[in-house]
Amino acid sequence: MSKRFYSAFSFLCVGVLFSVLVSSSGCKSTEEPQVRQRADFTKNWSFVLDDPASAQEPSFNDRQWRKLNLPHDWSIEGKFDEKAPAGTGGGALPGGIGWYRKTFTVEEAEKGKLFFIDFDGVYTNSEVWINGHYLGKRPNGYSSFRYELTPHLKYGQEQNVLAVKVDNAQQPNSRWYSGSGIYRNVWLVKTNPVHVAKDGTFVTTPQVSQEAAKVVVSTIISNVQKQQGSFVLHTLVYDQEGHEVAKVASENLTLPDSLTEVKQELTVATPKLWSIEQPHLYSVVTRIEQDGKVVDTYQTPLGIRSFNFDAQKGFFLNGKPMKILGVCNHHDLGALGAAINVRALERQLEIMRGMGVNAIRTSHNPPAPELLDLCDRMGFLVMDESFDMWKKEKSKFDYSHSWDQWHQRDLEDFIKRDRNHPSVIVWSIGNEIPEQYGPEGTAIATELVGIVKNLDTTRPITVGLNEPYPHNSIYKSGGLDLVGFNYHHQDFEKFPQAFPGQKFIATEAVSALMTRGHYDTPADSIRRWPKRWDIPFHDGNKDLTVSAYDNVSTPWGSTHEETWKVLKKHPYLSGMFIWTGFDYLGEPTPYLWPARSSYFGVVDLAGFPKDVYYMYQSEWTTKPVLHLFPHWNWQPGKTVDVLAYYNNADEVELFLNGTSQGIRKKQGDDLHVLWRVPFQPGTIRAVSRANGKEVLTREIKTAGAAAKIVLEADRTAINADGKDLSFVTVKILDQAGNLVPNADNLVNFKIDGKATLAGVDNGLQTSMESFKANHRKAFNGLCLAILQAQEEAGQVKLTATSEGLQSATVTIELKK
Ligand code: GAL
Repeated sequence: MSKRFYSAFSFLCVGVLFSVLVSSSGCKSTEEPQVRQRADFTKNWSFVLDDPASAQEPSFNDRQWRKLNLPHDWSIEGKFDEKAPAGTGGGALPGGIGWYRKTFTVEEAEKGKLFFIDFDGVYTNSEVWINGHYLGKRPNGYSSFRYELTPHLKYGQEQNVLAVKVDNAQQPNSRWYSGSGIYRNVWLVKTNPVHVAKDGTFVTTPQVSQEAAKVVVSTIISNVQKQQGSFVLHTLVYDQEGHEVAKVASENLTLPDSLTEVKQELTVATPKLWSIEQPHLYSVVTRIEQDGKVVDTYQTPLGIRSFNFDAQKGFFLNGKPMKILGVCNHHDLGALGAAINVRALERQLEIMRGMGVNAIRTSHNPPAPELLDLCDRMGFLVMDESFDMWKKEKSKFDYSHSWDQWHQRDLEDFIKRDRNHPSVIVWSIGNEIPEQYGPEGTAIATELVGIVKNLDTTRPITVGLNEPYPHNSIYKSGGLDLVGFNYHHQDFEKFPQAFPGQKFIATEAVSALMTRGHYDTPADSIRRWPKRWDIPFHDGNKDLTVSAYDNVSTPWGSTHEETWKVLKKHPYLSGMFIWTGFDYLGEPTPYLWPARSSYFGVVDLAGFPKDVYYMYQSEWTTKPVLHLFPHWNWQPGKTVDVLAYYNNADEVELFLNGTSQGIRKKQGDDLHVLWRVPFQPGTIRAVSRANGKEVLTREIKTAGAAAKIVLEADRTAINADGKDLSFVTVKILDQAGNLVPNADNLVNFKIDGKATLAGVDNGLQTSMESFKANHRKAFNGLCLAILQAQEEAGQVKLTATSEGLQSATVTIELKK
């Protein structure tokens, strides 16, 4: 690849070319001539879960194949099976080989344009053909990649056939549920011969102050066909309201090589900074002119912010200290499997925001690009992670086998794809990498750090280390800007002595286990194994439910309270990423069948918060919190541990049927208060007070028999775009309207209108019911139905019925 490097300043000095540096506050729309097209290429594919011979040939007959729209994950449609090759670690769902085909035409008039197909991610080992021509293979299931179609296209009436083989047969290849298929978006990109190369801009802000931001833009222009002419590269910056705030033009460019890099510099006066609270986004618009005609336009997001990590004072965003309050998440979306859906991702982030989370770790792989768009827009920081293993395998058929051939390409593509997102503040080059125990760790870390720094020096690099000690061979490479602790909260306070002058981040923390709505006493006695693998389930919990009192933890981890108590104490502990924000498919630690999804989430797989969500909310937000639990349906005479998480108050008083059970105040570093109450049916009521004045009250009543269903849609109006979702919570209530805390009624769903059921769930880790069904049992009083719009405007009704219960209907508006 040959590159020419132009810097705006050097042009001015040598006088060969001319660049203008302009700042203005002129008002202009960001609408640009449509010279580049990026079309959603996800509709009307044919699919078969099989490996038929010659399926890449255009003449192959696929008429019997299933018709579907992408993104698609075939594993989530399968049956749970203890003997599935993926193992329960992989979610106990099937893998296999599948083929996708799509036919399309290209108009004659398009001759001369370039066509590319962009895949955001295919799990895994994808191979792609256009009209029978082999375009290539991509082993990594999380990498985004492009192929050029132009030389093989047919124009006019003739059909083009794109064929994709996806091979996820060799399992296990992952420690968690991966999904199978073209599970992310696909785009058809059309450009002129002279255009911005794929991921061809890199925008940085090396100087940021209240007064001005210096914006440096590097643009790689592709002129593969060596077009002649006089070229101008315009770069314009628009604010969120569409006002032009800066522009620069590099004129009289020659593009003698296939790829030419041009550097430009702009100044944005009085920039609106990107922050968690106000994630102001600018847009950088690139416009290329050839002989006076616009031949390409391209947009890059820009968030103007500065940040740094300090060995003593921790993390700063825009000069202000703040703790990174993060969660690790895997990429599955519960009942939707791995098939990306923007609304489902947005909902996850909204739920996390409600708890006070301000950062996401994309454990342990490149995320869907839309996640980063959402983080930019919603104000989340991101630790963007590349690999769960390097050359040494963790699962028998994992990416380690492709490492030698692919790691450089995968890492480079990942950095280039993600480096313009203001949300991304840390690169992670690996998680719990086995090489840390041997000398290879130093060499590989050095190589990877070199690859990243070559493409981006604006963000620190870390690794989630199992053994965060100075003799760790990855740490000894000297390449890590941040020392990444996975667990070891007992050692956090030794950090300044163990790593003098170094910067700390808890890349992964906690790994406590819980099942929503299940409680085993005593609440304040922590159960940690390894002596017995079934210990989290407490004696007698044959249904493999785990207590949600925050009293069960893995031996390598801690309870939620244990880690947070240490982390909150010292500014040099810059932040942490909880394992995990949401329960995820697979890794049902401690691996007792029929558990098939994890217990680690603060929120369950269906998106229903567990109680500890409110501990974080009371600590991480300023919202007034008083969360009282557990439910109030017990055997008479049982002593029940009643807990409250609260803030903005100095005491809480608990009443049982009107009788005070005492006032409790958090002492020292307490994060909750506790009462031991002999159960009597009736009402428990908590009152929080500040300076003697009531702040909040909460009440829980003993529920009677299940009598009715109530439906609560998170959104009652959604877009009729074939993608948008309404998440409908199904509650089982008694006649008086109390949630029945152990209700497990089977609920049937019926849809009237232009929508489908995209999935159902109840958050129970051991449920063997399919996520793709029109019925679901409630678990501990709740289940979820996910309704997906089709493409026609109108009204749709979702009705939920259950034997012996009063049914319920919710109406959702589908908007065009
Ligand atoms: C960590 C690992 C995670 C997950 C977690 C479960 O060691 O990095 O991927 O396996 O343990 O506790």
